[in-house]
Amino acid sequence: MRNAIKATATTLLRLPSEEDAKELFAVVDANRSHLREWLPWLDLQTTVETSQGFIRACLERERTMGAFTGLIWHQGELSGVAGFNSIDRMNRSGQIGYWLARATEGRGVMTACCRALIDYGFDAKHGLDLHRITIGVAPENHKSRAIPERLGFREEGRIRDAEWLYDHFVDHVLYGLLRSEWQPAEPG
Ligand SMILES: CC(C)(COP(=O)(O)OP(=O)(O)OC[C@H]1O[C@@H](n2cnc3c(N)ncnc32)[C@H](O)[C@@H]1OP(=O)(O)O)[C@@H](O)C(=O)NCCC(=O)NCCS
Repeated sequence: MRNAIKATATTLLRLPSEEDAKELFAVVDANRSHLREWLPWLDLQTTVETSQGFIRACLERERTMGAFTGLIWHQGELSGVAGFNSIDRMNRSGQIGYWLARATEGRGVMTACCRALIDYGFDAKHGLDLHRITIGVAPENHKSRAIPERLGFREEGRIRDAEWLYDHFVDHVLYGLLRSEWQPAEPG
């Protein structure tokens, strides 16, 4: 079990604990309209208890599948969430999902977090030993699409009506990366 993954000198992905629920809810609540444009779960996150439920689900996914999801601590502030939403053990494939508080956008924080998650995902010795990592993004979510594109993912296709966003479906552009295509970070 991995408790934390360092993304940069100032950015840490840390497995949540139930004590983080209050702070997590405050960040979600302050970023509601920003996040609601592309994420489907905002109307379910209405109280600190619902954030606690999310944290429990993350810990359970990590315990049962090794699917690490971390709170993003950037310069000591809780700034978002990134991790493996799902892992298909049989086929050694994992799907990454993420969001960032508006105030932390535009600094490369999420790209660095994804780079660290990918290193962890493909690492056969200390990580998840995955063969393939995917990211699914709505076609018009340009900021999000830029992340897999920056990291060398290949656009593999389009999943029709992949996600229900409150009152309409959006397609997903599916980005995929194979271990053989990834250059891991230098250790240290
Ligand atoms: C998607 C989301 C995480 C992207 O955030 P982001 O800040 O654009 O992504 P990054 O943290 O990687 O930062 C990239 C930006 O920082 C800039 N940047 C600065 N230093 C950088 C560095 N060292 N490396 C990479 N980018 C850097 C980039 O140029 C880019 O800015 P630009 O959009 O003006 O070109 C964010 O918009 C978000 O949370 N949106 C709402 C939820 C959402 O859509 N989630 C994803 C669903 S699929």
